[in-house]
Amino acid sequence: MSHADDHSGNTRRDFLYYATAGAGAVTAGAAIWPLVNQMNPSADVQALASITVDVSGVSPGTQITALWLGKPVFIRRRTEAEIEEARAVEMSDLPDPVARNVNLEGEPDATDENRALDETGEWLVMMGVCTHLGCVPLGDAGDFGGWFCPCHGSHYDTAGRIRRGPAPTNLPVPQAEFIDDSTIRLG
Ligand code: FES
Repeated sequence: MSHADDHSGNTRRDFLYYATAGAGAVTAGAAIWPLVNQMNPSADVQALASITVDVSGVSPGTQITALWLGKPVFIRRRTEAEIEEARAVEMSDLPDPVARNVNLEGEPDATDENRALDETGEWLVMMGVCTHLGCVPLGDAGDFGGWFCPCHGSHYDTAGRIRRGPAPTNLPVPQAEFIDDSTIRLG
């Protein structure tokens, strides 16, 4: 099954991207992996919980959606304008002031710098699951130029922070890092 072939209403830059053929096999055991990881954090278990995504084909102003542990992950390469907009926001304007980034310890502020993957802010990686009731938000949409969840009207900004609507928190930033110039590892 490939959603990439489904052009009904989807834009080409919002297609579902299957990172590896093996990713689907991982999803069946997704619920138990965190527990297994705690009990026996061996390298082979961690490898199963990780996938790599080639982002060499992602141009500025577009995003891909990877499937990781059965959930969509948005990987967006932002334009200068998107980054500037995200960085100009006052913390007092954010309904959820916490970064929600598992790569950072504690509960740091939801600054754009604390959510972006790299220092320049060009890359943003987030779970593509609305924090209200779990729909998949649409990219390049909503009143804040980021993502919009049409289920009940949640608007996220260009840093994936909730700005208006019923969603209680920002879109979470999962464990992610660049392992070379064009490859991001999730998990
Ligand atoms: S699930 Fe997104 S707004 Fe309700």
